[in-house]
Amino acid sequence: MVQLATVGLAHPERVDYHPSGWLSLRALLRPSEVGPDDVFADIGAGKGRVVYQAARRYGLKRVIGVELSPELAAEARANIERHRRRLRCHDVEIVTSDALAWEVPDDLTIAYMFRPFTGATFHGVIEKLIASATTPTGRGPTK
Ligand SMILES: C[S@@+](CC[C@H](N)C(=O)[O-])C[C@H]1O[C@@H](n2cnc3c(N)ncnc32)[C@H](O)[C@@H]1O
Repeated sequence: MVQLATVGLAHPERVDYHPSGWLSLRALLRPSEVGPDDVFADIGAGKGRVVYQAARRYGLKRVIGVELSPELAAEARANIERHRRRLRCHDVEIVTSDALAWEVPDDLTIAYMFRPFTGATFHGVIEKLIASATTPTGRGPTK
């Protein structure tokens, strides 16, 4: 666990880092629901546990982690590199960004969030995801 206050990023709507349970993603998403064109993002990715699990377990096209804290993002990258040989999907990127400033890719189809933020930040990010799903060019999140 990491308190955002200790890395200078405290904000009433931001939730501190603690990882998803090891079985959460497995319970939410069956491999049969995922195809080779699916792009997965963990928004508020922390140290990258779910990014790693997504890339290891599913035949995804691409996996993205979006993390506000540069320190946590660096740990996520290191964790992915450490286990890269085990991954089924090798196109993995950790983006250091506030989720509100992150440009949702047109090909994103699966967005995962484990309570990364609340309030206006949460609503703002949901609006971005909905907008990306309804643009004529983007397939957007479908799952
Ligand atoms: C509860 S943790 C979830 C970590 C990871 N998704 C998992 O399930 O293991 C929430 C994460 O969201 C990040 N976060 C909080 N506010 C954010 C924001 N505005 N943009 C991006 N990440 C944010 C925190 O730094 C923290 O790592």
